[in-house]
Amino acid sequence: MKVTAFIGSARKHHTYKATEKLLQKLQSLGNIEYEIVMLSDCNLEICKSCLLCFDKGEECCPLKDDRDKLIKKMIDSDGVIFASPNYTFQVSALMKLFLDRLAFFFHRPFFFGKTFTSIITQGFGGGEDIVEYLDSMGSALGFNVVKGSCVTTVEPVTEKRQKKNDKIIDKHSKRFYSKLIKKEYPNPSLFMLMMFRIARSRIKILQNETFRDYNYYMENGWFESDYFYPVRLNLFKKLIGKFFDLIATQMAKSY
Ligand SMILES: Cc1cc2nc3c(=O)[nH]c(=O)nc-3n(C[C@H](O)[C@H](O)[C@H](O)COP(=O)(O)O)c2cc1C
Repeated sequence: MKVTAFIGSARKHHTYKATEKLLQKLQSLGNIEYEIVMLSDCNLEICKSCLLCFDKGEECCPLKDDRDKLIKKMIDSDGVIFASPNYTFQVSALMKLFLDRLAFFFHRPFFFGKTFTSIITQGFGGGEDIVEYLDSMGSALGFNVVKGSCVTTVEPVTEKRQKKNDKIIDKHSKRFYSKLIKKEYPNPSLFMLMMFRIARSRIKILQNETFRDYNYYMENGWFESDYFYPVRLNLFKKLIGKFFDLIATQMAKSY
């Protein structure tokens, strides 16, 4: 199995080392090959907000950078890790740039069946919220998300702190590995079901064949399906799904 980690730091230090440690732990658990991509070595341009990727398709993006090479690496992987230092209580600008370049996938989720997790390194605090943020991005891209981890790296990193961080990474690697080998298509949570029904109702009512999202949903059969991929919904989820459809349709009509 292949795992690719994308690092949002300009240097190979705390974030790189924590990620490398997690990947090496994964290798000790099973047959894993990995690649670490330093986003600082890639050419990622700043989104110009033309919205062509959303409306007409990602191939219409006027920026010519490494976006598609990085996407190919994600497609060729079974597992993906986004790792970033905490910069002013958010991901680094490099990681944010990368997320912005992937934004069309939030409209047209794609990475189903693949496993995602996040790593945040920080000096003193606030990182848990960033883990939550990055994990929610993984989920919006379509991945199966394994809760990420946050390690504190304030210098000098004491022996006690290092042991604590190693323990966090060790637990994280086991969590990630057990999900990675399952290659699941999980039954959606109520929240995920609601998000899917709201998105499809909005697209169906507010768009038409001239929009890329509309065609993507049409091609995938998502205007009629229960969820993004085949799932067996229990009676409660079936009923609540219909309710979400109804409410979302009313909301979209009144938009
Ligand atoms: C510009 C900048 C902003 C930072 N902001 C925060 C912050 O808000 N909270 C925090 O806990 N650490 C903050 N830090 C510390 C880094 O998150 C921490 O040193 C991190 O482990 C660096 O990762 P790296 O070695 O991979 O570059 C900041 C560091 C820099 C350079």
